[in-house]
Amino acid sequence: MTNSENSEASDFVVTPWEVSGKIDYKRLIQKFGTQPINDELLERIKKHTGDLHHMLRRNIFFTHRDMNWILDEYEKGNPFYLYTGRGPSGQVHLGHTVTWEFTRWLQEKFDVPLLFQITNDEKFLFSDKFDKVSDLDQVTRENILDIIALGFDSKNTKIMIDTDNAKTLYNAALPIAKKITFSTVKASFGFTNSNNIGEIFYTAIQAVPAILESIWEGRNVPCLIPHAIDQDPHFRVARDVLPKIGYYKPASIQNSFFPGLSGEDGKMSSSRAETAIYMNDTPKQVKKKVNKYAFSGGQATIEEHRKLGGDPSVDIAFQWLYQFFEPNDDKIKKLEEDYRSGALLSGEMKAYLIEKVNAFLKIHQERKEKVKDNIEDYLISD
Ligand code: TRP
Repeated sequence: MTNSENSEASDFVVTPWEVSGKIDYKRLIQKFGTQPINDELLERIKKHTGDLHHMLRRNIFFTHRDMNWILDEYEKGNPFYLYTGRGPSGQVHLGHTVTWEFTRWLQEKFDVPLLFQITNDEKFLFSDKFDKVSDLDQVTRENILDIIALGFDSKNTKIMIDTDNAKTLYNAALPIAKKITFSTVKASFGFTNSNNIGEIFYTAIQAVPAILESIWEGRNVPCLIPHAIDQDPHFRVARDVLPKIGYYKPASIQNSFFPGLSGEDGKMSSSRAETAIYMNDTPKQVKKKVNKYAFSGGQATIEEHRKLGGDPSVDIAFQWLYQFFEPNDDKIKKLEEDYRSGALLSGEMKAYLIEKVNAFLKIHQERKEKVKDNIEDYLISD
């Protein structure tokens, strides 16, 4: 790497444990070596799904590894299963649900099983917040309710909690761990000699669900992992190692980050709570946060806005609608045009968003209440 590349590369950081700075996704793709999702692939997916999720049409899911292989196998009658996960470190917010909403769509369209890993071990090892593993129990349960409430079908969805499924995970992780050196882990995750040894081992645990269906079935089953792009280093390691012990490389499809209300620093994060919307937030809280914190692409006064128009590309209310809450292409186009022309004001854009977010959360919170006693239907036991 030349010096200029080096200094260029340092203005944003994307690792599984840190996302910061203004992310240049083009450069990230180059750095990680994933494949951009092009029109040809979209057409191929559409052949099977009938329509395209707006997160595909709008490039929110923007890169992949081996999607064409997944579809080749599917077309040959060798269907894949889905694997995704959640590190339960705190309350679920809207940013987390981007990947899961899309995963649910894939599951429904392809009618395939989903394995959902809850990595309480990871959060224990990587965070200073927890003294005992059991400190995560409450939040783990809450998070699982949020996941189930998004509508995953219990007949086709299994959830594993790492420490509860330790026997399965540890047995399968051993041959994986044996093929990963400390220098690989250092290079892949930027670890140093002061990382704890649990952190060093952990990536083997996150690789396991990519082969579990194969272990259970006694034959190799293709695995597709939808995930936010920051998790890619784990699966790069997994793709390197798993063929060495007789399994397929897992395929993946990656989304960009959902921004926080302030629009700063890459992604929505609980470390800036006021700029995140949580699944438990009340309509009042949503309204207050959006009105107060959503970065506006509008002009300073109404007169100026009417004259000059706003900039939807930096307006967070518009961005949230575009990325998540307004799947209708005609409507989103009109919002964009009216905002640019000045016909639509920032306050009006925010009001529209608030309505959408609150409608979404209302359904979510009702479903969450209903599935309270259904957790057991999803959990796998060792
Ligand atoms: N490490 C992820 C997190 O911190 C959790 C996770 C485990 C995951 N397995 C995954 C995420 C597979 C996406 C896909 O949230």
